[in-house]
Amino acid sequence: MNQTLTGFGLGLRTEHYLDFVERKPQVDWLEVISENYMVPGGKPLHFLDTIRRDYPMVMHGVSLSIGSSDPLNMDYLRDLKALVQRVQPTWISDHLCWTGVDHTNLHDLMPLPYTETALRHLTQRIDQVQDFLGHRILLENVSSYVAYRADEMTEWEFIAELAKRADCELLLDVNNVYVSSVNHRFDPYVYIDAMPGERVRQIHLAGHEDHGDYIIDTHDHPICDPVWDLYAYTVRKLGNVPTMIERDDHIPPLDDLLAELAQARNIANGITLEAAAA
Ligand SMILES: [Fe+2]
Repeated sequence: MNQTLTGFGLGLRTEHYLDFVERKPQVDWLEVISENYMVPGGKPLHFLDTIRRDYPMVMHGVSLSIGSSDPLNMDYLRDLKALVQRVQPTWISDHLCWTGVDHTNLHDLMPLPYTETALRHLTQRIDQVQDFLGHRILLENVSSYVAYRADEMTEWEFIAELAKRADCELLLDVNNVYVSSVNHRFDPYVYIDAMPGERVRQIHLAGHEDHGDYIIDTHDHPICDPVWDLYAYTVRKLGNVPTMIERDDHIPPLDDLLAELAQARNIANGITLEAAAA
């Protein structure tokens, strides 16, 4: 791991397995959901191994529950490490959240209180995970619908401070920043400004369900214009960070996603060229 990865990727979804095997479309890399392949055998692993021969991969998990007050699940981490050895991903990511407590899984990515206590708790757990895996991990900002009265700082201050203290890297989900900015009424551009550029290794883009004064992060729509605008701003601030599109529901034909990915590539490459010419 730790080799570099550049360009534009997609999240690998079951619906597109055959496209990647047979057509080998031009995508720079693929992101796989770790938990889908933490099984002893069967079709998903067969496709994973086959497609891996043609594409660099990164692994993205949803079950680490790094923020929970439960002890880390070492069985999960052992399975994750075994999958890392199999896939040889360029990096491993999960979410900055908690997904359950007291052995109850909420099956949702719950936000954390942005406090000094949470910073200390997370720093110690990220250390433990990175030591066990032998690699730095990327943590992703989640979209949220609730905030805590106990908050002592903003989400962006919390994330920047955490990345520094825990010496981890970041997966910046630009759609999640936008969704939370509408739900919590903050300026998403201030959030992007606060991101430590040297630690942002990957960007996610996705679509959502707009209800006017609030947004549900469904990953089932094309990317909307305000998210494209925020992405362009992010590339101007942070450079041409490896970027991918996440679609988890109403999965369209692969060509539709490739067209959307071409839009991301055009925006980012246009900005890079502009910067080089200036
Ligand atoms: Fe994401």
